[in-house]
Amino acid sequence: MEEIIDLKEKISELAQVGFLDINIDPTIDIFAEIDKLKKEKNAVILAHYYQEADIQDIADYIGDSLQLAQKAKETTADIILFAGVHFMAETAKILNPTKKVILPDLKAGCSLADSCPPEDFAAFKNKFPGYAVVSYINCSAEIKALSDFICTSSNAEFIVNSIPKEQGIIFAPDRNLGAYLAKKLNREMVLWDGSCMVHEIFSLDKIRTLKEKHPHAKMIAHPECEAAVLELADFIGSTTGLLKYTQTDDAQEYIVATETGILHKMQQASPHKTFIPAPPNNSCACNDCPHMKLNTLEKIYLCLKYELPELLMDENLRVQAKIPIDRMLEISVAAGLKG
Ligand code: 13P
Ligand code: SF4
Repeated sequence: MEEIIDLKEKISELAQVGFLDINIDPTIDIFAEIDKLKKEKNAVILAHYYQEADIQDIADYIGDSLQLAQKAKETTADIILFAGVHFMAETAKILNPTKKVILPDLKAGCSLADSCPPEDFAAFKNKFPGYAVVSYINCSAEIKALSDFICTSSNAEFIVNSIPKEQGIIFAPDRNLGAYLAKKLNREMVLWDGSCMVHEIFSLDKIRTLKEKHPHAKMIAHPECEAAVLELADFIGSTTGLLKYTQTDDAQEYIVATETGILHKMQQASPHKTFIPAPPNNSCACNDCPHMKLNTLEKIYLCLKYELPELLMDENLRVQAKIPIDRMLEISVAAGLKG
């Protein structure tokens, strides 16, 4: 018994620093073991489209940020394993607090969420009294607690449109999504100056050259990209929006300006079409999110086995952060956006 407790403590220590890297018997069938653990423990695996292909394939549900929040809220499983990043697991805990929420690697953060520290944001907000605060879901629970509405890339237009025209809006933390919405909805908004490291990496010159090489390819982009990249796009949408577009549109080739994980689902859904990742500004040929890609099958196996690391949060913070998320979910259901 003592040994088990020691092992749990050791794993907890490792898990808390995001280092769940203990040896796994190389002869086990990790897919079968994960499946077995899921059934034994009544656990559900929710995975974002930016996860690696194997993780998407073992997940019970794959979706964009809104769909995953909706699934997390309604699941009857005892354990939610979130194959995504910290703010997503935190949102799941906020919405479904009686469930045990586990995240394979606690270090899976988000550059966008990190670009908005709560103390700085509170001071910024104080400069605009009476403004409604709309925050993109890619932010910490503390920022959510300072917000009036949360939005995701698939419902942001509905959320902003639900706010009376005469009311000022602060939009945080993504300046690119904010600028895209302000232009599209012809709405003035005060923008927090944050961004996502993955969606800011695309090279305009390389995209132009690629378009010349593939004149029939359509370019599709996530609204977290910079305005100059969005201007080159034939279609702009959330991760799910982009996926649906490639399924219904009749082009045969697409240049995809977002994280590369989504290409797996696009290719599965349209096996005869060609998907080309938009080229980044650096010498690496990939647009992988380093945070999303911290999750691995091995960490998922250990996470399920030991039910660690667990996402825990302060109850007052959770209650405060839930208010603007609930508003978002209500508006999303009214708009017909269901996971
Ligand atoms: P969506 O899931 O809303 O498309 O957002 C993409 C993203 O950056 C998630 O981290
Ligand atoms: Fe954050 Fe960007 Fe990674 Fe999404 S893709 S988790 S916004 S850093």
